Amino acid sequence: MVMRNTNDDEKMQNLIDEFKKDISSKNNEILGYHDKIDALEQEIIRLQKLIPGETSKLKVKREKPEDIFDPDGASAVIVKDLVKQFGDVTAVNGINLDIKKGELFGLLGPNGAGKTTTINMLVGLLDPTEGTASVGGYDVKRDLNKIKEIIGVCPQEPAVFKFLKGRENVELFGNLFEMDKNVLKERADKFFEASGLKEASNRKAKGYSGGMLRQLNLIIALINDPKIIFLDEPTVGMDPRVRRKTWTFIGDLKQKDKTIILTTHYIEEAEALCDRVGIIDYGELIALGSPKELMKKHDAKNLEEVFMKITGRRILEGV
Ligand SMILES: Nc1ncnc2c1ncn2[C@@H]1O[C@H](COP(=O)(O)OP(=O)(O)O)[C@@H](O)[C@H]1O
Ligand SMILES: [Mg+2]
Repeated sequence: MVMRNTNDDEKMQNLIDEFKKDISSKNNEILGYHDKIDALEQEIIRLQKLIPGETSKLKVKREKPEDIFDPDGASAVIVKDLVKQFGDVTAVNGINLDIKKGELFGLLGPNGAGKTTTINMLVGLLDPTEGTASVGGYDVKRDLNKIKEIIGVCPQEPAVFKFLKGRENVELFGNLFEMDKNVLKERADKFFEASGLKEASNRKAKGYSGGMLRQLNLIIALINDPKIIFLDEPTVGMDPRVRRKTWTFIGDLKQKDKTIILTTHYIEEAEALCDRVGIIDYGELIALGSPKELMKKHDAKNLEEVFMKITGRRILEGV
């Protein structure tokens, strides 16, 4: 039997640290070349201008090195200095986040805080005004198609075909993903059962309540078994009983290699579900940590009190 002792662990850790340092210095080296390439590009343009009729015929082709850097590949989502402006309105004002694989992460904040705008930039529905983000290691500005293959999205506004039955909606999306028929049926059955929407699944979505539409959207977002799941206010419009059932449903999705990012303005939802919470207000991240850590740090009974102590307002004020 091979026994690993602490000495071995330490050696291994040192080795990993060395590798990380090495990667980091090589990355800096690349950035140095980048400056040289810039200078060469300028020089080419200058020379081209000296040749009559030759202006910018020779385009300089190059790709910037990854701005985002995740040496150990442990992150599902990295957000760097993300900004979104709509005219004069700064909806997201320089957010930084590092969400680890396997985390159930919540963006908690009042209405208008910038939660949906943040999510929409991560799933490719909006272009960032400034900053960068990567999802599953892919850059949102460059590799959106790759990102779309690995994510599931439940948008804030339910997007289903009302003239189709619940089950037909799920099958339609499953077929778009070219899923195997048996796998599709099995997974749909499982999700309809677990979400409590089984009985309604053979009725047209036209007659569904807001909460039911959201449950259906949740199933659609999950049908392709995505690695990274974005849920924007997943339980709005649900009555308390269905909301609790949905919390269990979402909680049960948690697996080592699945990452779930949800937004909510319900304090209890963030407390019940999330490993870590980022509290967002006026487009800025004002607190980050596990619900327990945040309560301890701010000497608060719950996350509402945490928000209150930081901002002097209640989360639900004015909603
Ligand atoms: N398309 C848009 N055009 C102009 N302003 C917008 C747009 N989308 C969102 N906003 C504004 O950006 C801010 C953040 O909105 P949003 O991200 O939807 O907040 P949340 O999801 O936290 O409720 C709000 O002030 C909202 O009015
Ligand atoms: Mg929103």
